[in-house]
Amino acid sequence: MQINNISGYLPGRIVFFLVNCHLTPRPILLTRHGESLDNVRGRIGGDSSLSEAGEVYSRKLASFVEKRLKSERTASIWTSTLQRTILTAYPIIGFPKIQWRALDEINAGVCDGMTYDEVKKNKPEEYESRRKDKLRYRYPRGESYLDVIQRLEPVIIELERQRAPVVVIAHQAVLRSLYAYFADKPLEEVPKIEIPLHTIIEIKMGVTGVEEKRYKLMDAVNPTAEV
Ligand code: G3H
Repeated sequence: MQINNISGYLPGRIVFFLVNCHLTPRPILLTRHGESLDNVRGRIGGDSSLSEAGEVYSRKLASFVEKRLKSERTASIWTSTLQRTILTAYPIIGFPKIQWRALDEINAGVCDGMTYDEVKKNKPEEYESRRKDKLRYRYPRGESYLDVIQRLEPVIIELERQRAPVVVIAHQAVLRSLYAYFADKPLEEVPKIEIPLHTIIEIKMGVTGVEEKRYKLMDAVNPTAEV
């Protein structure tokens, strides 16, 4: 790559991005953590551990990863810094694990720990503002989807740079944002993208573009678990 006459912030960022991209085919496996105790209770945010179903998923994920990546020389497992992703990665052995704070779930600020019904009842203005513009709405003392997308930039650059497979175990809002980047979804659609629990989304990047496969390893046991 030849770079000439580059100056200024944006051209500099574009060059930084381009020099980190390559076309070596390699899979990126995206998955939410296994069902958590807060998923079962329908609570937003928090740092709870896994439900029984979530633990079953962590074991199913480990055997899937072992089979899927057994022919690879190397791979890595990325999680957030929250327990539910670290516990989901726990049964996976033989690959290095990296925790990223940038992969933590959207910060629900003053609504952290509430159910959506409690937000609607106790903070009706917040509920309504978010309903009207979920992409731009920022929880008081928390984050918006736009904030999450911005903080994911270093993760995206690092994923572009990797030549070996990566398994990303993260959270709904974060995976919506990452998936939208790889699947080239419009910004406005990000908060509505479906990222079901207990499902692996395999993204394969290569010279012919991006291919996607989904593997549903089990059903979400609890109906409120899709929070
Ligand atoms: O706890 C947060 C959720 O995973 C994000 O979902 O943006 O649809 O409320 P939401």
